[in-house]
Amino acid sequence: MRFYVMTFGCQMNASDSEVVSGLLAGAGYDKAPHVEDADVVIVLTCSVRESAESRVHGRLGALKALKARRPGMIIGVGGCMPQREGGAREIMGRHKHVDLVFGTHNLHDVARLVEEARAGRTVEVLEDQERPAFRNPLRQEDLLAWVPIMHGCDNYCSYCIVPYVRGRPRSRPSEVIEAEVRSLVAGGCREITLLGQNVNAYGHDLPGGEGFSRLLGRLDAIEGLWRIRYTTSHPRDFDLDMVKAVAASRAVCEHFHLPVQSGSDRVLTLMNRGYTRERYLDLAAAIRERIPGASITTDIIVGFPGETQEDFEDTLDLVKRVGFDSAFTFMFSPRSGTPAATMEGQVPLETRKSRLSRLIEMQKAITLERNLALVGKKVEVLVEGPSKKEPERLQGRTRTGRYVHFLGPPSWKGSLVGVVITRAGLWSLDGERSEKQP
Ligand code: SAH
Ligand code: SF4
Ligand code: F3S
Repeated sequence: MRFYVMTFGCQMNASDSEVVSGLLAGAGYDKAPHVEDADVVIVLTCSVRESAESRVHGRLGALKALKARRPGMIIGVGGCMPQREGGAREIMGRHKHVDLVFGTHNLHDVARLVEEARAGRTVEVLEDQERPAFRNPLRQEDLLAWVPIMHGCDNYCSYCIVPYVRGRPRSRPSEVIEAEVRSLVAGGCREITLLGQNVNAYGHDLPGGEGFSRLLGRLDAIEGLWRIRYTTSHPRDFDLDMVKAVAASRAVCEHFHLPVQSGSDRVLTLMNRGYTRERYLDLAAAIRERIPGASITTDIIVGFPGETQEDFEDTLDLVKRVGFDSAFTFMFSPRSGTPAATMEGQVPLETRKSRLSRLIEMQKAITLERNLALVGKKVEVLVEGPSKKEPERLQGRTRTGRYVHFLGPPSWKGSLVGVVITRAGLWSLDGERSEKQP
């Protein structure tokens, strides 16, 4: 029997898909190379925006034909969509070929649930509860790894569904995280990405728990671990001490992903973000001053209810002032059950669209400018393997998170190479290795 996991949404879901894979492998299933070869297909879903849900529905629709050709195939749908109010019913109603629906809080029962689904359609969505401490994820890759440090979120940004579908914050004990990272490194891992909805709140829920900076210090001391990334930071809880901690560390990368969401104080208040435009600009300035060459990236929502043209111009102005290296930009999408969905002053779709395209145009120009500034400079690249588009070239990332392509043998996978940038585009850089190495 073979399984295949399809993942939508954020890196936490990607990490959860490794947990699901580990559980199914532990129950005796083999991993199928393609979905067409699978006897069990698990789809891990995202509910953060309407468009994310539409993509899931589209993919589930496509699985219907596949299942018709492979009778006995089990299709399971898990994660954030079933966990949200009414989500499980909607999936069962719309997709009669789905055999199993489960939420984010019973993901660890997936093997049992799949067996139950063989006897008949099964739905199990539990309320918030502890995750079992033991995890045995099946990772695809030795070199890079995602490591969740906390689950859940209680910030309740007024637009966001995540606190409702992921439950209250629960941090994993730092010794447990450290042990996991040590064993990863012993297996050849050189770069980790620590995951949480708000990593700067790490440890606040543990009795006597150490905070995020202490955790970084602990992991920074692990020999053989070259790079530590983390996502996501919250500008309310991210402070100057964090900037100092990163500046003082060896492995923590000089990349700050700090979602700003809006450049207008009025909108930030409506969003319940808990910081001002000025605080954000101060943080960005502190990063630029103390860590020259660092990259700062962000998430922005346009067309939040009540956002005026002036508010939007404030966002553009902030984007220009900070000079983000890149930004994920979204149109506000009302999520049922969140306060913003029923706020007054919903912005018409046309306005949201045109604001989004203006923002994207501006950010593209800034991204290109910042990338072009790297031409002629030497950067350190961790080689991840052959480039997907041009297999004769290698692909890797800088410490600041940019993709770089250059010529070199496949055997360099997993090594750090000095590369001089020769060309800059919007999405990646081209370069040449700077000396005979490794
Ligand atoms: N925990 C992370 C991000 C979670 S979701 C954080 O706090 O930054 C990722 C991004 O999706 C958010 O940063 C936000 O920009 C966007 N997003 C969340 N809910 C949204 C909604 N209802 N409409 C549009 N974008 C949304
Ligand atoms: Fe959503 Fe805000 Fe929590 Fe991020 S911090 S997951 S945007 S509620
Ligand atoms: Fe989506 Fe759930 Fe992540 S809603 S963004 S997959 S936490």
